[in-house]
Amino acid sequence: VDLEAFVRGLPKAELHLHIEGSLEPELMFALAARNGIALPYPSVEAVRAAYAFSNLQDFLDIYYAGAGVLQTRQDFHDLAIAYFERAAADGVRHAEVMFDPQTHTDRGVAFAEVIEGLLSAMAQAQARLGLSSVLIMSFLRHLPQEAAFATLDMAEPWLDRIAAVGLDSSEVGHPPEKFEAVFAAAAAKGLKRVAHAGEEGPPAYVHQALDLLGVDRIDHGNRALEDEALVARLVAQKITLTICPLSNHKLCVVDDLAEHPIDRMLDLGLKATVNSDDPAYFGGYVGDNYLAVAKARGLSREALAQLARNSFTGSFLPAEAVASHL
Ligand code: HPA
Ligand code: ZN
Repeated sequence: VDLEAFVRGLPKAELHLHIEGSLEPELMFALAARNGIALPYPSVEAVRAAYAFSNLQDFLDIYYAGAGVLQTRQDFHDLAIAYFERAAADGVRHAEVMFDPQTHTDRGVAFAEVIEGLLSAMAQAQARLGLSSVLIMSFLRHLPQEAAFATLDMAEPWLDRIAAVGLDSSEVGHPPEKFEAVFAAAAAKGLKRVAHAGEEGPPAYVHQALDLLGVDRIDHGNRALEDEALVARLVAQKITLTICPLSNHKLCVVDDLAEHPIDRMLDLGLKATVNSDDPAYFGGYVGDNYLAVAKARGLSREALAQLARNSFTGSFLPAEAVASHL
């Protein structure tokens, strides 16, 4: 079989996906029309043309503005089901879906609208596509820790349907230590923890995420490679890294995909995985990410299969479910 069929045929889990980042310009226009919202762009093509970023903040400014069309639980349902259909077509059997409640509650959308829309799409994905999923509630790190605590409070009635908390948005200047107390509170409520670290921030932020937040995984973690002792620690503790090749290229974390360190990470013994991050903004879903980095780095099929296996072993699925996917 050709490489494309091989990649799409590999059973895989997606561990780093922001559901708001799966909002395609076509759906953005449809929801804007449905909700009577004016967009600052004349066309779908103009929206896509605006997706040229030189760093994380450039992207975040456009991404938060785009999310403004999401108003009702039906909108969140439609957003998520569109993602699940694309993911299933890419061989995704399990998805751990991040959502940013504060992006919505801060503009007056009720937490219940957001989560109920996502949960109904998740149930439909399980029933129609055989795709399992869990939710990761991410805190916006550019906002104060008190706002994260307020979000954790809002989530209280749904905590049994949330697998983990996460940490995203503008990294530099907002180190993990800022959120130590709210992550401890989430842990006390039985939630798992993940955090973006080492995307633009220094290796020290990865150390902090492990030491102070007690994370089970690191989202991105690219800059861990600058610190040999940290690499040794991530290997010894078998910490999964959720790597996002097309995102890394579009946000200039790597200058060229041909220089992406994914194979170096595997060679070092790191538990790297391949994910899409914000597929509508970065030019591709998870299958496109495997294919692009496979071509750019000349990855073997064994390496691609290892990345896919790592996605299940690094997931929050129970051991029996992991075994059933390997
Ligand atoms: N980094 C930080 N925050 C984000 C990202 C990311 O890659 N995607 C969506 N929010
Ligand atoms: Zn991300």
